[in-house]
Amino acid sequence: MVDPRPSVLSEDFAADPYRHFAPLRERDPVHYEPAIDSYFLSRHADVKRVLTDHEAFTTRTLQVRAEPVMRGPVLAQMTGAEHTAKRKIVVRGFTGQVLHDHVRAVRANAAELMAPFLARGRMDLVNDFGKPLAVRATLDVLGLDREDGPRVAAWLGGVAEFITAITLTPERRRHCLDRAEALEAYLRPVIAERRRRPGADLISDLCTAEFDGVAMSDRDVTALIINVLAAAVEPADKTLALLFKHLIDHPEQMARVRRDPELLSAAIAETLRYTPPVHLIPRTAQEGAVFAGGTVPAGATVFCMIGAANRDPAAFAAPDVFDIHRTDLGAARSFTAAAQHLSFGAGLHQCVGAAFARAEIDTVAAMLLPLLDEVRHSPGSRYREAGLYTRGPVSLSLDFTPVR
Ligand code: HEM
Repeated sequence: MVDPRPSVLSEDFAADPYRHFAPLRERDPVHYEPAIDSYFLSRHADVKRVLTDHEAFTTRTLQVRAEPVMRGPVLAQMTGAEHTAKRKIVVRGFTGQVLHDHVRAVRANAAELMAPFLARGRMDLVNDFGKPLAVRATLDVLGLDREDGPRVAAWLGGVAEFITAITLTPERRRHCLDRAEALEAYLRPVIAERRRRPGADLISDLCTAEFDGVAMSDRDVTALIINVLAAAVEPADKTLALLFKHLIDHPEQMARVRRDPELLSAAIAETLRYTPPVHLIPRTAQEGAVFAGGTVPAGATVFCMIGAANRDPAAFAAPDVFDIHRTDLGAARSFTAAAQHLSFGAGLHQCVGAAFARAEIDTVAAMLLPLLDEVRHSPGSRYREAGLYTRGPVSLSLDFTPVR
C-alpha cells in the first residue's frame, strides 16, 4: 500500500520513488516537507512553469547549495547578458567540429576501457566502464590530463555530495568542502598555465574569453570548470547504464535496436524520460505562487520533481511503460529546447551539454551492443538504484558471451 502523502525524505521513498509519483501528482502536487521547509512539485505543467519562468522562480538557492563547492558562481546562477556570454563559451566547447573531435576521442577511450573485460564476459557497466569513461570524456574537453581522472573523480564526489544532499552533517559538509578546495588547488596552476599558453581546449577558451572587455577572474574560470565537471560526468554515466538495463529488461526492444541502430537515439531519449538521472532541480520563489494543487509562499525553496513530471499522464500516454516507439516523445527534439521530457531542464538554464551527452552515449552504446552478445544481468547480482537528487544504478553487473 502506497502512503498517499509520503515524505520524500523517507526510506520508503528513497527505495523506489517511482511508486510514489502518481499519488503525489494526484493528491499532493505541491508537497510540503517541513523538516527542510521546502516544496516539491510533481506535475509536468507546474514543473515546466517553474523552470521556464526564471524571473518568478530564481536560482538564488544555489548560493548556498552549490557556490561553496563550485568555488564561485555557476552558470545556473547567472541571468541576462552575463549568462548569455558565458554560456556561449561553454556551448562552443561542446558543439560543432569540437564535438566531432570529441566523439573520436570518446570512441578511443571507450575501446581502451572495455578491452580488459571483453575476454572475461563480465563487466560492471557503472563502475568498470561508465564512470571512468564519463570522467575521461569531460577531462578531454577541458584539456586536463586523463591520468588525473581518479583524483578528479574523488574530488568531484565531494562536490556532488554537497550539491545533491538534502541534509548534510557538519562532518560531511567539512569533508565536501575539503574535496572542493583540493580540486580548486589542482586547477589553480592549470589556469595560470593556460593564461600564459592557451591551447585548443575549453579551459583555454574560458581563460582567454572577455566579458564586457574584461577577462574572467580565476575564481570565475574555476567555478565554470567545476560547473562543467559536475554537470557532465554524473548524468552521462547513469544514462548509459540505465539504457542497458531497460533494453535488457525489454528484450523485444533490445532486438529492435540491435537490428536497427537508428533506433538508439529513441532508446536514449526514452531512457531519459523514463528514468532521468537528475531527479530534482531547485528554485526559489521570488513571490508567492499559486498552482492548481496548492500555493508556495514568497522566498520558498521549490524542488521540481523531474522523475514525476516525466511520468505525468497529462504529458505522456502510458507514462509508466518504457517504450522506445512512443510517438509523444520524439527522439530528435528530445535533445533540444523543444524536448517534451524535462530531463535536461527547460528554459534559460536548460542543459548546455545535451548534444554532447547524446553523441557520447550514442557512440558508446553503438560500440557496446555488437560486442556484448547475449548481454544479461549477471546471475546473483542485485540491482539497486540510489539517490534522491541525482539517481541511478549503484552498479550494473552484466554477463555476455566472451569475446575471443
Ligand atoms: C544525460 C546527460 C545530462 C543530463 C540528464 C543533464 C541534465 C541537466 C539539467 C537537468 C540541467 C538544468 C539545471 C537547472 O535548471 O538548474 C542541466 C544544466 C547544465 N548542464 Fe547538463 N546534463 C547532462 C549532461 C551534461 C553534459 C555532458 C554537460 C557538459 C557540458 C552538461 C553541462 C551542463 C551545464 C553547464 C548546465 C548549466 C546550464 C545553465 O545554467 O545555463 N550537462 N543539465
